[in-house]
Amino acid sequence: MYSATAPAKVILFGEHAVVYGRPALAAPVAHLRARAIIEETGEADVKLIAPDLNRSADLSSANINNPLVATIRAVERSVGCALSEGYSLSVTSDIPIASGLGSGAAISVAIIRAFAQYLGRVDTMTNEVISQLAYEVEKLHHGTPSGIDNTVIAYERPVYFVRRQPANVIEPFTIARPLRLAIGDTGVRSATKDVVGDVRRRWEAAPDRFEAIFDACGRIASEGRAALAAGDMTAIGELMNENQSWLERMTVSSPPLERLIHAAREAGALGAKLSGAGRGGNMIALVTPELEEAVVAALMAAGAVRVFISDVG
Ligand code: MEV
Repeated sequence: MYSATAPAKVILFGEHAVVYGRPALAAPVAHLRARAIIEETGEADVKLIAPDLNRSADLSSANINNPLVATIRAVERSVGCALSEGYSLSVTSDIPIASGLGSGAAISVAIIRAFAQYLGRVDTMTNEVISQLAYEVEKLHHGTPSGIDNTVIAYERPVYFVRRQPANVIEPFTIARPLRLAIGDTGVRSATKDVVGDVRRRWEAAPDRFEAIFDACGRIASEGRAALAAGDMTAIGELMNENQSWLERMTVSSPPLERLIHAAREAGALGAKLSGAGRGGNMIALVTPELEEAVVAALMAAGAVRVFISDVG
């Protein structure tokens, strides 16, 4: 049996603007994870199993758009051999889907890591290779992803990320004092591909306005990195609030997100913003152990379907 896991992620600063070459910061959420298990079966096909979804399929007849199939095909292309028989692949995940926490990229990374073991290639399938393979799958599902999700999930470290040609800037960094985040789920599912596509249309219609918004988000991400390195919680919270106001101008916020964000701030959170593509999904609030209970209660009262508390960094 070959088993591997990968974490969820939050975007601390710079979502969307990162697609347009501005810096962004993301961090793994270690206690929410996707898991992949490969077991040898000796059978002529491959059994794909998603117990959480009560679903199973044979690889030979599965839809090519199935993310498990897409990930297997990416691994096949990378290692140059067919992976079409003799094992089962089972995937489970704690990470809510379509909610800004990187569930798709975490599933891909967990599968690729399990294959690295199965194929005896743990040494050559570095974080960089794993991230690149997961990016190929992300492109199928997300259109024009920046690559930040697969990067932070494959490296499992906080990262400063800038999308660049020919190579992205990827700088894993240390957060001086771990951030205690309340992660509140609106319960509204939102497909990253749709939101990213809509922002693109708006940018095309009003490029100057959107470039200025992206510049502001990029500046906030750079200042955020300095504040994280200094462990300056007050500054981090203020920058989160500022980032949220630019995300609202970008039109990717939503009334359910804003209800949670305002409730968290009123309960004393040091800062709060949406995280990920927006229009639904999760928001993050910076809390302290003393504030945590009040913020969680306020989020639940404001309509959160669940709240995770996570130490990030
Ligand atoms: C999604 O986690 C972050 C976005 O910036 C999209 C991307 O970077 O690919 C919205």
